[in-house]
Amino acid sequence: MIELKHIGKTFYKERAELLAVKDVSLTFKPHTVTALIGPSGCGKSTLLNMIAGLYQPTEGSVYWNNQKLDHVNTDVGYMTQKDNLLPWRTVINNVALPLEIAGVSKAERLAEARKILKLVNLDGFEDKYSSELSGGMRKRACLARMLLYNPKILLLDEPFAALDAQLRVAMHDLLLRLWSEHKQTIVLVTHDLVEAITLADRVVVFSPRPAKVAYERMIDLERPRDVMQVRFSKEFQNIHNEIWEYLRQQYAEEKI
Ligand SMILES: Nc1ncnc2c1ncn2[C@@H]1O[C@H](COP(=O)(O)OP(=O)(O)O)[C@@H](O)[C@H]1O
Ligand SMILES: [Mg+2]
Repeated sequence: MIELKHIGKTFYKERAELLAVKDVSLTFKPHTVTALIGPSGCGKSTLLNMIAGLYQPTEGSVYWNNQKLDHVNTDVGYMTQKDNLLPWRTVINNVALPLEIAGVSKAERLAEARKILKLVNLDGFEDKYSSELSGGMRKRACLARMLLYNPKILLLDEPFAALDAQLRVAMHDLLLRLWSEHKQTIVLVTHDLVEAITLADRVVVFSPRPAKVAYERMIDLERPRDVMQVRFSKEFQNIHNEIWEYLRQQYAEEKI
């Protein structure tokens, strides 16, 4: 269980203050998928950094299994918005890195990495360097590396934004299949409302900066979900319309 209790984050730069997150209280129940939506620059990535324990909140606290988090949470697998593959390592050696750190033998870790690369459609690219990959491929390599680490919590910051529509749906399918097997707690930042509803148990919408919870909607669509079909169901359309209407109103108000 991840609990955010009245957390806020102010950045101090020279003499300027910037309030990025304001009084956010949210609970992420074990084994649930939560999608976070909000305007660019509102503070979503900052919030994930605090959940990961990389940033300390300036107000309130983050709790992980009832313990106050004051260090990096090693149960977290974090796919940051910017991919962070090591440029001097090949794809397979990047993906196998978590197992290398864990002391797994070379033969075993390369075999595992090869399997996971196949899952994300990167077989054939094992020996390439990250500079030789497209943005979407680099994202998939990051996803593979995170999955190999098999963390309890997945923090995904706009993980599929760089992918074309077909590949994105394939990745949704992969994520849901892996989730049904491992039941990680997933927090996903996305700008894609269809993606949010397809994957999540709950959608949380943030206000413009400083990020505050503006709107929440449970997504009670039956699981397992067929990522190709679910978006055409009546229930899906109703949920989509409801959230869309909220976003439309918010947009209209800001324009005034
Ligand atoms: N390390 C940092 N130092 C100073 N300001 C930051 C830092 N990280 C983020 N910010 C600022 O906080 C605000 C929210 O950023 P971010 O969390 O990246 O937004 P989002 O992910 O919603 O687009 C932005 O104004 C950004 O410039
Ligand atoms: Mg961001």
